[in-house]
Amino acid sequence: MGISKITSDQVKERMDIEEVISDYVPLKRKGQNLWACCPFHGEKTPSFSVAPAKQIYKCFGCGKAGDPIQFIMDIEGIGFQEAIRHLAGKYGIEVEEDEARTPEQEQAQSERESLLIALGFARDFFVKNLETEEGKSIGLSYFKERGFSPTIIQKFDLGYALDGWDHLLNAAKKAGFQEEILLKAGLILQKEGDPNRKYDRFRNRVTFTIHNISGKPIGFGARILTKDKNQPKYINSPETAVYHKSDVLYGMYQAKKAIREKDNCYLVEGYTDVVSLHLSGIENVVASSGTSLTDGQIKLIKRFTDQVTVLYDGDAAGIKASLRGIDLLLEGGLNVKAVVFPEGEDPDSYSRKVGSDAFQSYLEKNSRDFIGFKIGLYKDEIARDPIRKAEVIREVVQSIGKIPDPILRSVFTKEAAGLLDIEEEIIHAELNKSLLKHQKDSFEKQKEEEFQEAQIEELIGAKEETSFSEILRLQEKEMIRLLVNYGIEKLEGQELHLSQYLLSETADLEFETPVYAKILGIYRQQLSQNQIPGTDFFLTGTDAEVKKEVIDLISPRHEVSTHWEGRHEIIINKENDDLTLTGYKSILRLKRKFVRKMMEEAKQKIKNAEAQALEFEEVAELQEIYFTLKKVQIEIDKELGIVIG
Ligand code: UTP
Ligand code: MN
Repeated sequence: MGISKITSDQVKERMDIEEVISDYVPLKRKGQNLWACCPFHGEKTPSFSVAPAKQIYKCFGCGKAGDPIQFIMDIEGIGFQEAIRHLAGKYGIEVEEDEARTPEQEQAQSERESLLIALGFARDFFVKNLETEEGKSIGLSYFKERGFSPTIIQKFDLGYALDGWDHLLNAAKKAGFQEEILLKAGLILQKEGDPNRKYDRFRNRVTFTIHNISGKPIGFGARILTKDKNQPKYINSPETAVYHKSDVLYGMYQAKKAIREKDNCYLVEGYTDVVSLHLSGIENVVASSGTSLTDGQIKLIKRFTDQVTVLYDGDAAGIKASLRGIDLLLEGGLNVKAVVFPEGEDPDSYSRKVGSDAFQSYLEKNSRDFIGFKIGLYKDEIARDPIRKAEVIREVVQSIGKIPDPILRSVFTKEAAGLLDIEEEIIHAELNKSLLKHQKDSFEKQKEEEFQEAQIEELIGAKEETSFSEILRLQEKEMIRLLVNYGIEKLEGQELHLSQYLLSETADLEFETPVYAKILGIYRQQLSQNQIPGTDFFLTGTDAEVKKEVIDLISPRHEVSTHWEGRHEIIINKENDDLTLTGYKSILRLKRKFVRKMMEEAKQKIKNAEAQALEFEEVAELQEIYFTLKKVQIEIDKELGIVIG
């Protein structure tokens, strides 16, 4: 966290696109540029280009583009800060942490680091236990029975928690770990009513290490080996400062490379399914670990692929109960397929039963898109009962309605009509009904959010300052985004370009965020010379910070998958359709933020009037200003259609 600007500047100065990318893909020179097969989507002829002169890459197949930092973020699936660290490592640049962090942040960070170190210690401890007599005869023999090889045991950091109350606790204390850290890491528990007695959370069980995306242990799942019905089959780590369950998928660290390569992610239920699939030679697999899927987990998958194949146990009741997961995936914009295993089998048992070759071909032969899968589930019921058929249609339509992409929606509408043997129009009609309802819901939700935002702003005190300036920053960003994307376009039926319009409307504003102020300055300067800078203008020659921001702003907001290249255009066209309105609204929102900011300043001054020994007239004037601004704000709100309480 918090890399200093000096370090990131050093990295930016030192990094070279060709050096960075050729660590991952062989590049061939053709003319000015270098070419390769795109590492982000499968292809046989190179459409991935690297321009050393501009220090950017762009894939003409899938649309991914950016600078060396973006490349590392994309290929490693990590954030900006981590990417800087990565590049600093590559170039041997010493990382200097940002001094500007608050003591609280400082402490939270060092606590998270302590937790990670303690969890790493526990991992090593559990792994080494497998070499003890007890570990060998109980833990290791269990793994062997399940067909887990030594290589796979190592790959997944599988281990064993000894039978006893304080093996880990004592070893960790001896190694210098404080009980408080072990508690916060979820490794030990406190005896109820007796805070002085602590004991190991994981005892007499085999352990599955849960890793974060960069391979550090953040938690454990521990499986019982006896048939004791009074104990849970698994004991899992609790939610901690380093283990946010809703953002973690078991196996992602081991799978991420394969997911990207195969452009598909298998989703299974548990730890053993993940390990068994690896044994069968399938590495692009993760588990939600027995819980239902979350938005955070879906976002995590989307960093690597747009395609998910859900593997279900072969029992119909269980499948129907977990169908909600499919809708969530669809809503997240993922393409969803599903495979069902024969009655009584799960991916783990079935792969062991038939062996890896037969298992792999089973997956290929039996994976069906979610429409075919869903309708297939109800096939028998539909044949028997026409009323049930109507229900199934509604059921299927509801899933189709979750898909954000209209083209995909119509593809699946056709397919569903065919499979259900009904007119496409019927599905369309149902779909429209369900979409309308969906829109109404989300419209109300949006209103609610806006209302809350307004309320928060109303209550703004010093405490909310950060979120307030964050809103302002986003508003500025939106304005700049419109400028760089559509600045050269003409407004409908007018001679005016969007950039001229936006600039004339914001002539009296100074942006707060330095980089946006800088870009705005460039526009003002260029326009005063009757030139409108296009995106090229920023990608060549300007300073790195501006370039990075512009690349970010011109990159498609939704990743374009290779299969559905139309998607990007649709989104853009929509906002492009009515640039005048989009631009106007953006200006209004921005002005609203500035008005709110000035109101805030007036309020603060009034509050400090006494301390500042202001004259009565001065205070009155401030109040006047405040109420005038308030009127302006109300006018803007009316124009924007925001109704506030
Ligand atoms: P399973 O019961 O299939 O676990 O639970 P398993 O180890 O594969 O068992 P067998 O050998 O097939 O009988 C699937 C997943 O559900 C979660 C775990 O993530 C597990 O991997 N789970 C299950 C729990 O978290 N707690 C439990 O008590 C049971
Ligand atoms: Mn199982």
